[in-house]
Amino acid sequence: MSILVTGCAGFIGSNFVPFFLQQHPDGKIIGLDKLTYSGNLENLKGVLENPRFVFVKGDVCDSVLVEEVFHQHGIDGVIHFAAESHVDRSIHDPQVFLRTNILGTQTLLEAAKSSWHNGKQWRPGVKFLQVSTDEVYGSLGKEGYFTEETPLDPHSPYSASKASADLFVKAYHDTFGLPMNITRCSNNFGPYQFPEKLIPLMIRNALCHEPLPVYGDGKQVRDWIFVADHCQAIDSVFEKGRLGEVYNIGGSNERENLGIVKVLLELVRQKTGDRKVGSHLIRHVQDRLGHDRRYAIDSSKIREELGWVPSTSFEEGMEKTVEWYLANSEWMQKVISGEYVRFYELNYGGKG
Ligand code: NAD
Ligand code: DAU
Repeated sequence: MSILVTGCAGFIGSNFVPFFLQQHPDGKIIGLDKLTYSGNLENLKGVLENPRFVFVKGDVCDSVLVEEVFHQHGIDGVIHFAAESHVDRSIHDPQVFLRTNILGTQTLLEAAKSSWHNGKQWRPGVKFLQVSTDEVYGSLGKEGYFTEETPLDPHSPYSASKASADLFVKAYHDTFGLPMNITRCSNNFGPYQFPEKLIPLMIRNALCHEPLPVYGDGKQVRDWIFVADHCQAIDSVFEKGRLGEVYNIGGSNERENLGIVKVLLELVRQKTGDRKVGSHLIRHVQDRLGHDRRYAIDSSKIREELGWVPSTSFEEGMEKTVEWYLANSEWMQKVISGEYVRFYELNYGGKG
C-alpha cells in the first residue's frame, strides 16, 4: 500500500507519519509538502532515513507535480492534511486559504480520479481521506454538540475554505463515486505544533516572561484532543470507515481558554521552578473578529462504528506537551523566524 500524505511536515502530519509507518509494516508513505512557514522537515527527522518514506517538496495546487506523484509512486490512498490552518492568518490574508485549501484539494481530487478511475470503475481498495475540522459547523451556544448532521455554518475565512474543500470531496463522491471519507476533529495539542496556536504560544511566552494574550474575556470553549489520538482516529477511518461517510473526532475535553492558560502557567512554573511565571502575565486583548464562542464534538459515531476511543487524558496530554516544549527549545528558536515576528506584530501589535 502506497499512500500520499499531504502536509506531512506540519503539526499533525509529522505526528501521523511515524505512527502510520509503525502501525503498517507493509505501508509506504509519499509525503508531499510545500514547507510553508508551518512545515518543517526537522519535524520528520525520525523517518527521513526510513526506506518506506519518500519526501517530495511541492505544492498541492501544482497539478502537473501531483499527477506525476500519483503515477510515479502508484498511489492508492490519500490522507490530505495540507492546508493553511491558522484562523487569525485567514482574517489578515484570506486568499492563500482559498488557494491552498480549496484549489489544492480539488487538484488532488482530480489527480485521484484520473489515476484511480478507468472510465468505467474505480480501482478497488482506493480511498481519499479529507482531514477537516469541527470549525465548519460554526459556533455553539452553552448547550449541545456538533454531530455529523449539523449543518455547515463556517464563520472565518479559514473555516469557509475548509467547508468548501469538504463540499468538493463530497461532490466528487456524489458525482463520480470517489471512495472517500471526511473527518472533522476538534482542537489538537501536542509536540511540533507551531507556536502561533494557543497552547504552544502561551508556553513560549510564559517561558520568556512575555504577556499571554487572551482574546476577549477568555471564556470561549474548545474541545481539546491530544494529537496522537487524532492520528489513531484517522488511521481507523482510513482502514475501516464506511465509504462516503463523515466522522467527527473529539477528545471530550471542553475547556475555557482562560482555564487552559492557567493550567499551562502552573505546569511551566512547576517544571521550570521559575517563580516569575504566573497569572500576572495574562493580558486580555482585543477579541478575534467573528470569534466562535464554543465548539463541542459528539464523537459517538466513530466510537460506536469503529471502536475508536482517545487514550490520552487531557491532564496527561498537557503534561507531555509542556515537557516536549521544554526539551525542544532549539526547535522553538528555529521556527520563530522573521516570518513569525512579522505575523506576531501584525496580529498582536495593535490589540493592546
Ligand atoms: P499546520 O499548519 O501545522 O501544517 C500544515 C502543513 O501543510 C505544513 O507542513 C505546510 O507546509 C503544508 N502546506 C501548506 N500549504 C501547502 C501547499 N499549498 N502545498 C503543500 N503543502 C502545504 O496544520 P495542522 O495543524 O497540522 O493541520 C493539518 C490539517 O488538519 C489541516 O487540514 C487542518 O485544517 C486540519 N485540522 C487541524 C486541527 C488542529 O487543531 N490543528 C484540528 C482539526 C483539523
Ligand atoms: O477546532 C479545530 C481547529 O482548531 C483547527 O481546525 C484549526 O486548524 C486550529 O488552528 C484550531 O483553531 P482555533 O482557532 O480554535 O485554535 P487557536 O489555537 O488559534 O485558538 C484556540 C482558542 O484560543 C481560540 O478561542 C482563540 C484563543 N486564542 C488564540 C490565540 C492564538 C487566544 O485567546 N489568544 C491567542 O493568542
